Amino acid sequence: MAVSPLLWTLFLFSIIFSLQSSSSSEDTPITRFQHYLRFNTAHPNPNYTAPVSFLINQAQSIGLTAKTIEFVSGKPVLLLTWLGSNPNLPSILFNSHLDSVPAESEKWIHPPFSAHKTIDGHIYARGAQDDKCIGVQYLESIRNLKSRGFVPLRTIHISYVPEEEIGGFDGMMDFAASSEFRDLNLGFAMDEGQANPGDEFRVFYADRIPWNLVIKAEGIPGHGAKLYDNSAMENLMKSVELISKFRETQFDFVKAGKAANSEVISVNPVYLKAGTPSTTGFVMNMQPSEAEAGYDLRLPPMADPDVMKKRIDEEWAPSIRNMTYTVSELCH
Ligand SMILES: *[C@@H]1O[C@H](CO)[C@@H](O)[C@H](O)[C@H]1NC(C)=O
Ligand SMILES: *[C@@H]1O[C@H](CO)[C@@H](O)[C@H](O)[C@H]1NC(C)=O
Repeated sequence: MAVSPLLWTLFLFSIIFSLQSSSSSEDTPITRFQHYLRFNTAHPNPNYTAPVSFLINQAQSIGLTAKTIEFVSGKPVLLLTWLGSNPNLPSILFNSHLDSVPAESEKWIHPPFSAHKTIDGHIYARGAQDDKCIGVQYLESIRNLKSRGFVPLRTIHISYVPEEEIGGFDGMMDFAASSEFRDLNLGFAMDEGQANPGDEFRVFYADRIPWNLVIKAEGIPGHGAKLYDNSAMENLMKSVELISKFRETQFDFVKAGKAANSEVISVNPVYLKAGTPSTTGFVMNMQPSEAEAGYDLRLPPMADPDVMKKRIDEEWAPSIRNMTYTVSELCH
C-alpha cells in the first residue's frame, strides 16, 4: 500500500520538529550562557527577578548554596557559596554584575536579547562580554571541578551584583559595607575582569577612577550677527580645545607604545549642551549665555587627583573665563 503524499509530508515534518525541539532543549555550557543572555538586564530598567532565579537554579543543580540580599528593594545581590574543606580559613570571592549598559536594538544585526548564535559560533547579545560571560564561567568552572571530585580548601563565594553600570551604589557599595560581607571573612577577591577571545584569562590588579566632569561657561548673550568677546560658546570652546590637546598628549603615549590605554589619563567628550531651542531646532541668530560640555575622565592609580583638579581649576574651567565645573566620582 502506497503512503499518501500528505501523510509522508506530515511524517517528515514531525521528524524535523522533533530534531529542532531536541536541539533547542539541549543543555550545554553554551545554551546555559545563551539562556542567561536572554534576560534583559539593560539599563535604564533592568529587571533582576528572572535572571536571579535562573542563577539560583543553576547553583542548586551543582550543589552550591544560594542567598539573596536586597539592600534596596528590587535590586538583589545574589551570593553563592561552595564550602571549603577548611572553612575557617579566609575565603575567596568571585564577583560579576547582573546588569548591562543599554542597547539600541534597531542598530543591531540580531536583536540584543536573542543571544543569536551564528554558524561560525558567534553569539550576539548585550552584556555578553560585560559581563555575563564571566558570571557563567564561574558556574561552569565549578561544575567542571565538581565533576572531577575537586574540593576547595577555602570556601569560595560568588556574588552577582546589580547596578554596577550606574556606579554600584545600590549594589556592591551596600554589600561591601554590610555585616553579611564582613562575615564572609574574605582573603582574596576577584572582580569582573574582561572577556577574551582566546583561551587565556587576563587578570588586572588596578583600575582607573572614573570622573564625570561637567564644565559650564557663561558669557554675555548677543546677536548672532556681531563678533563679541567673551561669549559663553567662545569660553567653552577655548576649554574644549585645551582638553582636546591634553587628550592628544596622553593618547600619543599610547600610540607610541610607551603606555597602555589603562596607564594614561583618558578624557573623552560625551556631550555638548548649548543653544536656545526653537520650534524647529535652535534659534540660529543668537549667541547663548550658557554652554556646557560633559567628559568621561579616567585617572590611573598613579595619577595625582589634586594635580588634575588644579589643571581643571586653572586651565579647563577657570573662573577668570566665567567657567565653573563639577566632578562626580563614581568610586569613592
Ligand atoms: C520583573 O520580572 C518578573 C518576572 O520575571 C515579573 O513578575 C515582574 O513583574 C517584573 N517586574 C517589573 C517591575 O517589571
Ligand atoms: C565674565 O562675565 C562678566 C559679567 O557678565 C563679563 O563682564 C566678563 O566679560 C566675562 N569675562 C569673560 C572672560 O567671559
